[in-house]
Amino acid sequence: MSSSDAGRLSVALVDVTPGREAEFTTLATAFEALLIRKEYGRAEMIRDEGQPLRFYAVRRWHDASSAEHCHGDPEVQALTARLYQIARVTHVVNGVRKADPLRLMLDDRRARVEADRRTGFERRVRDTGNPDGSDRRSGKDRRLGPRRLRDRPGEIDLIAAARRAREFAEAAYSHFKVGAALETVDGTVVSGCNIENATYGLTVCAERVAMFKALSEGHRVFTRIAVVADTEAPTPPCGACRQILWEFGGNLEVELANLKEKKGTHRLKDLLPMPFDARLL
Ligand code: THU
Repeated sequence: MSSSDAGRLSVALVDVTPGREAEFTTLATAFEALLIRKEYGRAEMIRDEGQPLRFYAVRRWHDASSAEHCHGDPEVQALTARLYQIARVTHVVNGVRKADPLRLMLDDRRARVEADRRTGFERRVRDTGNPDGSDRRSGKDRRLGPRRLRDRPGEIDLIAAARRAREFAEAAYSHFKVGAALETVDGTVVSGCNIENATYGLTVCAERVAMFKALSEGHRVFTRIAVVADTEAPTPPCGACRQILWEFGGNLEVELANLKEKKGTHRLKDLLPMPFDARLL
């Protein structure tokens, strides 16, 4: 990153449409060359080790004004429009905005509060390891309050979080309780349960509750979701949830489990082949 205070960084997650990789590489190279030629800054495309079609587009601008000029440049806009035709782009860091020192302080405080909460979380993860696999937490050990934690993505026991969320399901009509836990790119876990009501039709599934909660709290980049129900056969997300998860979460890893064991891991693109989304509008 630029060592001067003026430097600006932007990061976007780029999911390339299968079969368009060659076109994408050409575009990325052209974009990099353009930023250097016009002296806006530098661009770099980093491939995700685990997902061959996912890239991290990192752009470092000399300062806020070069970032803004770059966005307004018709040549840049033409390349960006072509990129949007062949990839799904999710902005993670918007470098045009200035870093706000107060905001940074608040974030730091929040991180420390979350670290405290994590201590409790770890203890409960150990508790779930009892031989019959049942979730015995009750009474004072029951976890109340917001379920938020920061950890390294991929290391969180998402299924345990989904099992806990399931306990809160409002399922008076179907008696079919479902829990979901959604992991964000920074390791936050946002949970959800299904919510039914007397009109039946207004029911919202656990997966969508989790996703809507996460979006409403500003999360935009997601890595995994776990879904738990008390059935022998796994409970995959319904069609409506697959659509919402795809549009906002992309090709998520979907972990399915019941109260005793994990039942499988899937990729959302396999659960929702040939999806309709903004690229087709
Ligand atoms: N349900 C979910 O919450 N998620 C799923 O993946 C499948 C179904 C809920 C909706 C309804 O409250 C109940 O389960 C029975 O369909």
